[in-house]
Amino acid sequence: MDSSAVIRQRQRDQWDAVAASMPDFSSAPSTAYYRRREIALLERAAGPLKGKRVLKLDLWNEAINTRILEWVANAGADAYGMDVSHVVSHRAKDNSRRENFDVSIARADIRQIPFRSDSFDVVYTMGTIEHIDEYKDTLREIHRVLRVGGTAVIGVPNFWDPFLRPALVAVMEMLGKYPYAPEKSFTRSELKRDVENAGLAVTQMTGILLLPGVLRMLDLFLHVRRRWAAKSTEWFIKPFDAAEERFSWLDRFGYLVTAVATKRR
Ligand SMILES: C[S@@+](CC[C@H](N)C(=O)[O-])C[C@H]1O[C@@H](n2cnc3c(N)ncnc32)[C@H](O)[C@@H]1O
Repeated sequence: MDSSAVIRQRQRDQWDAVAASMPDFSSAPSTAYYRRREIALLERAAGPLKGKRVLKLDLWNEAINTRILEWVANAGADAYGMDVSHVVSHRAKDNSRRENFDVSIARADIRQIPFRSDSFDVVYTMGTIEHIDEYKDTLREIHRVLRVGGTAVIGVPNFWDPFLRPALVAVMEMLGKYPYAPEKSFTRSELKRDVENAGLAVTQMTGILLLPGVLRMLDLFLHVRRRWAAKSTEWFIKPFDAAEERFSWLDRFGYLVTAVATKRR
């Protein structure tokens, strides 16, 4: 194996190990909030999905988190998801069988998307590409598999998160306590520039998840370790959810900055 193959193998092993030890967060209050914000974003950015082919990069949400491809499939789309991890893909597949949602699953690396050019109406990625150095290759791959006139929705950590999530992540990374490391964060202008350099035309810069990252972490901790206290977290999530729903200009303060883009040629 050459050195890049060794690195990739190590990255796959890391995600397998992380996913194998991770409980299912799908019923945590902050996950329900995350799902509502993802749905609102996709409805705004991509319009009705009925009859569309939709690809999502990574299956973490289907394995452990918001099950957003379930919503996509139930909206009448042909839902496709891909992930490099065996464990994540298997957990996603098991959940799709048990929870009865129809999603086609590929185990593959987002640096080389295993689908034909011009074959998707929508490509969605949220919190994935920032984990690889070669994320610009992935942006070019998104451009390649998207049909002309299709929509790409690309979300990554917000460098200017007002609640300093990138700083929190950096400290946890330094202490060796951040399971998703490495994780790059982006300014809006950096993300816009990178997406445009991949050949896509950015139509909107937006974002989701006003909730402070530390509250998301607390909610997940309580959900797993202190089940009796977990219900109470709904109360601190509600104001963030309501504000995000009501005031669209707050989108720039979300901890995931997002580019909505289209393919012109
Ligand atoms: C932090 S999790 C994703 C979080 C999720 N999107 C969310 O919103 O909660 C990262 C996911 O990306 C996958 N992944 C990481 N590197 C990848 C790669 N090079 N190709 C495909 N999937 C990858 C991991 O296996 C994992 O499922």
